[in-house]
Formats: sequence, C-alpha cells, structure tokens
Amino acid sequence: MAKPRIALIGGGHIGATIAQLAAQRELGQVILYDVIPGLPQGKALDLAEAAPIFGFDLQISGANDMACIAGADMVVVTAGIARKPGMDRDDLVVVNARIMAEVARGIRCYAPQAIVLVVSNPLDAMVTLCQRLTGFSSRRVFGMAGVLDSARFASFIAWELGVSVRDIHAPVLGGHGDTMVPIVRFANVNGIPVMDLLLRKYAGDQEKAQEVMAALVARTQNAGGEVVELLQTGSAFVSPAASAVTMIEAVLNDQKRLLPACALLNGEFGVRGYYVGVPCILGAGGVEQIVEFPLNDEEQRMFNDSVTTIRNLVDHLPVE
Ligand code: 2OP
Repeated sequence: MAKPRIALIGGGHIGATIAQLAAQRELGQVILYDVIPGLPQGKALDLAEAAPIFGFDLQISGANDMACIAGADMVVVTAGIARKPGMDRDDLVVVNARIMAEVARGIRCYAPQAIVLVVSNPLDAMVTLCQRLTGFSSRRVFGMAGVLDSARFASFIAWELGVSVRDIHAPVLGGHGDTMVPIVRFANVNGIPVMDLLLRKYAGDQEKAQEVMAALVARTQNAGGEVVELLQTGSAFVSPAASAVTMIEAVLNDQKRLLPACALLNGEFGVRGYYVGVPCILGAGGVEQIVEFPLNDEEQRMFNDSVTTIRNLVDHLPVE
C-alpha cells in the first residue's frame, strides 16, 4: 500500500527537522517545498542520502514549485520568518500573514483534500488565516502549539522533581504566547499531582510549593523566548518539530490521540469562532473531537485572557 504523502511548506530549520523525524518514523513520503532556489532540493537530497543509515525506504524530494505538493495527504506549514531577540510572536503577523495568503492559495489549488497542520507564528492567527483562505473544514486545519508548550512544562517539572520525563503529563491550553494556560491542576507524575510532589519535596511548605509551581508556569510561558534569547539568530526548532511530528503521526496512523491542538471553537469553553489551544482527539479525520472539560474559576479567567489576546490579533489580521 502506498505510503501517505507529507508535504512540508517551508524548508527552514523546523521544516527540515520535521522531514527528518517523519522519515525516521517512516510516516510517509516527504516533499519539502520552499521559495528559496535549491534549499528544499538540497535538504531533501541530504536527508535521502542518510536513508541507508536511518533505515527508511521512502521518497524524499524537494522543489521550488508548489505544484510539488499535489496529492498530499497532509500539509505542514512552517513557512514564515522566525523571531529575533526582543520580538514576540505577534511581531511576525504582517510578514507571515502575507506568506500564509500565498501558501493557502497553493494548498487550495494543489492539495484540496489535505489535512493541514500549521506551525508558523503567530500560531493562533496563522492557523485562522489558513483555514479562512483555504476554505477547508476547520476539522482539517489546526495548529501545533499545545503539544510543544506541554512538553516544555513537563520538562521543567521533571527537572524540578528529579523524575523521568516519561512519567509526566502537564497540559497547556489557550494561545501560543505569554497568556498560554498551563493546567496546574492536571499536571501529574504517573497520576500523582505535581503539587503533592512539590509539597513532599518542600516538607509541606505550601507557600514554597506554590512559589516553585508559579516559576515553572512562568518559565513555560516564556520558554520559546528563552531559546530565542540564547540562539540570537532564530527560534527553537527541534522541540517544535518533534511536537508537530507527534500530531502528524496521530493523524496519519489514525491514533485517536488526545492532544492539545489549536482548533476552531464553536462554543466549547465558552468561545465561538476563534482558534484556541484545547484538548482534541486527533485521528485520520484531523480534529475528530474537541474535548471540553469544566475549568475552575482561575483556569477560566486565564483562558478568557488568552482568548482576548487571540481575538485582538485575529480581529485585525492584515489579510482577509
Ligand atoms: C516556539 O515556541 C517556535 O513558537 C515556537 O519555540
């Protein structure tokens, strides 16, 4: 049976790393597209030549003509500029909206049946624009952010508690920015609430445990910026790429994973008509379900703040 076709629009660090990770997991044939002459072709050829070592039998190709994405089962959009130090993701909206308009036209033309995963920033706005301009069902157009933010939250918790990252679940919802919403109440290590383990570590000192958790939340909210400040020349790419591949695998292998994804809400969590990071069931149909659960007052307040930030950006998108 023919392998699925995964088209990556954007041959930068994130796109190329997704290509490598997807090929190593043999998720499908990989087509890399970019406007820069030679870039996607060179990165595709380099990856293809590693096949004997990684042990994958796949077609890996690169092109500068967007027609190369024809017939893709899944399209992953990473095209756009990345942050520089001192910028926040929203600063990218004007340039990346213009790029997304071009990309959406190409997807609608060459891959009208594809499921589309958007990674480009500012994520919540870019996925909104992609869905509006392709006109695809919102179930087929969603964004990657919460898997990345949750992985970062889990890493910081693991380092604080000295436990394996394998045993941590730490969901983060809302927008992909400073107002993202780590759901502290659900953060656990193999079912044991993180707050209980912090109390255990700090001998029952409630104030200290809350102070440490607040620092973990704050670091999660700023984690992307922390890497940008260190790199100086761009933003993170391994953790975003690994997060995107988790979602690609859930779709292409119809895994019914319950993962945070930026999805179009239709009343869930009290929001209608905006893309926000929420728990979703991801499978062959894309966002097959949005999984709503009761937020407590503090979580709802944070979620509403996050939605306000998204609304302020999305309601003024420079491209319709
Ligand atoms: C990040 O948070 C690139 O938005 C991505 O690193």
